Amino acid sequence: MTPVPQDYDVIVLGAGAAGLMCAATAGQRGRRVLVLDHAEKPGKKILISGGGRCNFTNIGAAPDRFLSSNPHFARSALARYTAADFLALVNSYGIAWHEKTLGQLFCDGSARQIVAMLLEEGAKGAVEVRCGGNIRAVTHNDGAFSVDLGGKTVTAGALVIATGGPSIPKMGATGVAYDLARQFGLKVVEPRPALVPLTLGGEDPFRALAGVATEVVAKAGKAAFREAMLFTHRGLSGPAILQVSSYWRHGEPIIVDLLPDRTEGWLRDAKRATPRASVAKLLAGALPQRLAEVLVRELGLVGELANVPDAKLATAERMLAGWRFEPNGSEGFAKAEVTVGGVSTAELSSQTMEAKKVPGLYVIGEAVDVTGWLGGYNFQWAWSSGWAAGTAA
Ligand code: FDA
Repeated sequence: MTPVPQDYDVIVLGAGAAGLMCAATAGQRGRRVLVLDHAEKPGKKILISGGGRCNFTNIGAAPDRFLSSNPHFARSALARYTAADFLALVNSYGIAWHEKTLGQLFCDGSARQIVAMLLEEGAKGAVEVRCGGNIRAVTHNDGAFSVDLGGKTVTAGALVIATGGPSIPKMGATGVAYDLARQFGLKVVEPRPALVPLTLGGEDPFRALAGVATEVVAKAGKAAFREAMLFTHRGLSGPAILQVSSYWRHGEPIIVDLLPDRTEGWLRDAKRATPRASVAKLLAGALPQRLAEVLVRELGLVGELANVPDAKLATAERMLAGWRFEPNGSEGFAKAEVTVGGVSTAELSSQTMEAKKVPGLYVIGEAVDVTGWLGGYNFQWAWSSGWAAGTAA
């Protein structure tokens, strides 16, 4: 059989974080690489990330900070291309950075520096990046993948799906990765919005608090995060809520410790020390004033501490340490920073990201059922999985 002539060795669909990393890695190995994207320019999510400063990695990017149906899947790629490896690349370009909090590394200047660096790395490997064209169809015959661009077809021996997840469609995000995966017989774990604000319905007494923030420990199931929580017009947001949203399931409550530094008995001790103080004043000393007012009303704790029975104070303490919010939904893919779920890890090699059933087909980045916590983890997964495929494709 005569082999089908191929225009490229590798076609990467998606010029985002994972796609650009994969393309540069493969290109620098001497592979002829084409990157295709329907957006007008590469790396659009990188450009808006981290408020324009790109939280490009997290120095604590261990596998337990990722959600997946197979929690061990990410281990190999994360170990082979680490946060330190990406940081070394950033340093080699003289890009200034700082640690903001909790191991999160941001550019001092602009996320544009990260995109420029990835494009420069691609250029070193003679990678061709074509933006602004629609991918009409993908076919696979005689060991070659063909991508129909409407009037023109390009072919390659390897195809990398790096088109991300459906979060923030107005940025150009689509679920095409899942369509392509299904076309090739690969299973997809149901995608859900993650790192997303949650909504509270009904007569929610906290609605009036939009804009108020406080540090809490928020829990969904076994997952717990100590960070800021923000009340919004529609419900709850802030890092603590975004983090637990990835673990939250419809119908479940979010349990919030509103005063994580208070120890058991603190209200009773305050009553002994300052019996004439009002409960409202006491709570306002520990929480934002407006939040304290709503809580005092909800707990029915009016008047001086001296007049509130110890048992009632103990109940109030328990409620403040485990406030039960019942979200009726999330703000959906329109506001979700990432997607939980995606192409099943059971279909892919954890070493190379190659589909076990379809030699030459790779899936990387957010398209895969691997999702990081908030704080640079998702980009690290894009770099690590992109590098893994780029060394193999
Ligand atoms: P990514 O979405 O980056 O790239 C996919 C590419 O495929 C896009 O260029 C898209 O245009 C293209 N594409 C999609 N459909 C296509 C189609 N049908 N045809 C052709 N091309 C198509 N993470 C982090 O670690 N630190 C941070 O600071 C942030 N900040 C942040 C802010 C905001 C507002 C969002 C929405 C997300 C973040 N993230 C983040 C998450 C991070 O952006 C995300 O995890 C990575 O960009 C995923 O990289 P991928 O390359 O997999 O997809």
